[in-house]
Amino acid sequence: MVPIFLLFLCLSYAAEAHLFHSFEKIQLPTPGSEAYAFDSKNRGPYTGLNDGRIVKYEGPEFGFVEFASTSPNRTKEFCDGKDGNDPSNGPKCGRPIGLEFNHKTNELYIIDAYRGLMVVGRSGGIATRLAGGRDGVPFDAPDAIAIDPITGAVYFTDVGNIFFKTNNMTEILLSGDTSGRLLKYNPKTKQRTVVLTGLAVPNGAVVSKDGSFVLVAEYIACRIIRFWIKGPKANTTDIFVNLPGNPDNIKRTRSGDFWVPVNIQKLQPKLTSFPLGQKINEHGQILETVNFYAEYNSTYVTEVQEHRGSLYVASVYTDFVGVYRGLKC
Ligand SMILES: *[C@@H]1O[C@H](CO)[C@@H](O)[C@H](O)[C@H]1NC(C)=O
Ligand SMILES: *[C@@H]1O[C@H](CO)[C@@H](O)[C@H](O)[C@H]1NC(C)=O
Ligand SMILES: *[C@@H]1O[C@H](CO)[C@@H](O)[C@H](O)[C@H]1NC(C)=O
Ligand SMILES: *[C@@H]1O[C@H](CO)[C@@H](O)[C@H](O)[C@H]1NC(C)=O
Repeated sequence: MVPIFLLFLCLSYAAEAHLFHSFEKIQLPTPGSEAYAFDSKNRGPYTGLNDGRIVKYEGPEFGFVEFASTSPNRTKEFCDGKDGNDPSNGPKCGRPIGLEFNHKTNELYIIDAYRGLMVVGRSGGIATRLAGGRDGVPFDAPDAIAIDPITGAVYFTDVGNIFFKTNNMTEILLSGDTSGRLLKYNPKTKQRTVVLTGLAVPNGAVVSKDGSFVLVAEYIACRIIRFWIKGPKANTTDIFVNLPGNPDNIKRTRSGDFWVPVNIQKLQPKLTSFPLGQKINEHGQILETVNFYAEYNSTYVTEVQEHRGSLYVASVYTDFVGVYRGLKC
């Protein structure tokens, strides 16, 4: 099921020259930043941290400032610096893992690992819960979020129940689990529907620029699938692209291409990761492969996002936002 990656594959990527002029680390208050969002005025990035805070970058002088929270019970005294992935802290402190703006309404949609789908207005504060795990169409483990830029519909993934069976990543990679789903929340009707079932740990999603399809990353199947929202192929699914490693969040560029992190993972003698990013066009053709090893070593990366000529690289394991400036592609 999971391909065993050979060392020469990694080395062939390592030989590629960098496509950037410089790399900068922007220090975060605490680690755990899985995804980034920019608002309609290009401010940010906004990101969620392990300790439950959603913070906004205000530039080099002010750094990251608090913007929002996913739990009304969160207190700074108890939560700041705590690990919200720990279930004894998470429900009180929150654990925001996915976020994306609706640029027409300036609302920030958030996936909180414990509280489900939430939304907060442009001035931040405590987010409102839109869909919890057990009401309406239930879900187990919400993860990635994608806003349709045309209709404002909110797509989000449920990675399924594998993480309740094991948190050993080797076992997850070998599990063949297909309990994941793609769900849709309609902000106008407040209705939640199941779009796709049978997904292999779907941990990334994005809607195309024209709103004609939604892409879903299947972590353990090393691929991205496409569900057609409208047009002649509406309601059908096909394989968009097969990847040389394990994907995570997918982000759209201004021109409509996509970036996805691709983690080349080797299981023997122990689980190790080699972080790449790939730029893919709307037809599923890989345009660029960028290698982050020099700056990230073997850190697993969770998102790659192009914004105003820079590439922002997120990892839930680092305490910084990585920015490659002076993109040459
Ligand atoms: C939040 O606080 C309320 C009121 O004290 C309480 O009923 C609820 O159980 C708390 N929720 C969590 C997740 O701690
Ligand atoms: C994870 O599972 C693999 C395969 O079953 C095993 O070899 C490894 O020791 C496990 N790792 C941990 C940290 O338990
Ligand atoms: C796609 O499915 C939706 C919801 O079931 C339905 O309303 C729509 O008519 C379908 N479209 C096509 C082209 O089959
Ligand atoms: C990668 O390794 C270098 C050298 O040991 C270290 O300075 C750097 O902080 C590491 N980077 C990450 C993201 O772990």
